[in-house]
Amino acid sequence: MNWLSGRVVENRHWTESLFSLRVEDAPLGFQAGQFVRIALDVEGQRVARAFSFVNPPQDPVLEFYGVVVPEGPLSPLLARLGAGDRLFIASNPAGFLVLSELQEAETLWLLSTGTGIAPFLSILRTDAPWKRYRKVVLVHAVRFARELVYQEIISSLKARDAFTYVPFVSRESQSGSLAGRIPAAIADGRLEQAAGAPLAARSQVMLCGNPAMLQDGQAALLARGLKKHRRRSPGQITVESFW
Ligand SMILES: Cc1cc2nc3c(=O)[nH]c(=O)nc-3n(C[C@H](O)[C@H](O)[C@H](O)COP(=O)(O)OP(=O)(O)OC[C@H]3O[C@@H](n4cnc5c(N)ncnc54)[C@H](O)[C@@H]3O)c2cc1C
Ligand SMILES: NC(=O)c1ccc[n+]([C@@H]2O[C@H](COP(=O)([O-])OP(=O)(O)OC[C@H]3O[C@@H](n4cnc5c(N)ncnc54)[C@H](OP(=O)(O)O)[C@@H]3O)[C@@H](O)[C@H]2O)c1
Repeated sequence: MNWLSGRVVENRHWTESLFSLRVEDAPLGFQAGQFVRIALDVEGQRVARAFSFVNPPQDPVLEFYGVVVPEGPLSPLLARLGAGDRLFIASNPAGFLVLSELQEAETLWLLSTGTGIAPFLSILRTDAPWKRYRKVVLVHAVRFARELVYQEIISSLKARDAFTYVPFVSRESQSGSLAGRIPAAIADGRLEQAAGAPLAARSQVMLCGNPAMLQDGQAALLARGLKKHRRRSPGQITVESFW
C-alpha cells in the first residue's frame, strides 16, 4: 500500500461530534462517490479507515466529513487534528457508488443518513447528474436539525430546477423537514410527495450511511417493485454501507 502525506488546512467543527477535514498536498484521481483510506500512526501502528470524498474530483483540496465515535480508534483523533497537522491518505481510491455504474433514468435519488451525505456532495458538484437525469433528489436524514450540515452547498444546488432537497430530522420536530425515518416515508408515500417525483422503474436510487437504513430502505424499495442493481443484472438500487 502506498501512502501520501496530506496536510490539514482546516478542521471545521459543525457540532461537538461532527467535523470536516480539508487536506492538501495529496493529489489523487478518483470518481465522485468514491472513498479512500485515511490514517494516523497511533503508538507505532497505522490506524486506517475508509472516508468518502466530499470534494468533487476537480477540486485539489480533499475534504472528508466525519462523526466522532467516542469509543472508536480513529475518529476521535481525526476530530482533534488542526491546520498544519499531517495525516496519511492511501493512493488507491475505490468504490462503486458512482454514476458511471448506473443505468439511464429519469430521476436520481440520493438517500443518506448522517455522514452518508458525503459522497453525494461530491457527485452533485460534477456535471454528470445534471446531464443524465431530469430530476435529482437529495435526501439527508439526521437525528437533530443542527446535523443538517453543508447548507451553503445545498443552497447553491437549489439554484438548479432539477434539484430537490428533502431533509429528515428524527429526534426533534423541525419545520421544513420530514419527521421519522426514510424507509417508512418510502412505504407510506411521504417521500415521493415531498420530492414531487415517483419512486418507480424510471428511477435510480443510491443509498449511503447507516447499514440498518440501507437494509430497511432496500426492503421498502423492493416492495415498490424496484430491484437491486448489478452489472450483470441491471436494476435501480445501489448501496454503500459505512459500517
Ligand atoms: C466505504 C466506506 C466509506 C466511509 N466513509 C465515511 C465518511 O465519509 N465519514 C465517516 O464519518 N465515516 C465513514 N466511514 C466509516 C469510517 O471508515 C469509520 O468507521 C469511522 O470514521 C469510525 O472510525 P473509528 O476508528 O473511530 O471507529 P470504528 O471502529 O471504525 O467504528 C466503530 C463503530 O462506530 C459506528 N460508526 C462507524 N462509522 C460511523 C459513521 N460514519 N456514522 C455513525 N456511526 C459510525 C459503527 O457502529 C461502528 O461499528 C466509511 C466506511 C466505509 C466502509
Ligand atoms: N450524531 C451525533 O451527534 C453523535 C453524537 C455522539 C456520537 N455519535 C456517534 O455516531 C453514531 C451514530 O450517529 P449518527 O446520528 O450520525 O447516525 P445514525 O444513528 O445512523 O442516525 C442518523 C439517522 O438515521 C436514522 N436511522 C437509524 N436507523 C435507521 C433505520 N434502520 N432505518 C432508517 N433510518 C435509520 C436515525 O433515525 P433515529 O433517530 O430514528 O434512530 C437518524 O435520523 C452513534 O452511535 C455514536 O457512536 C453521533
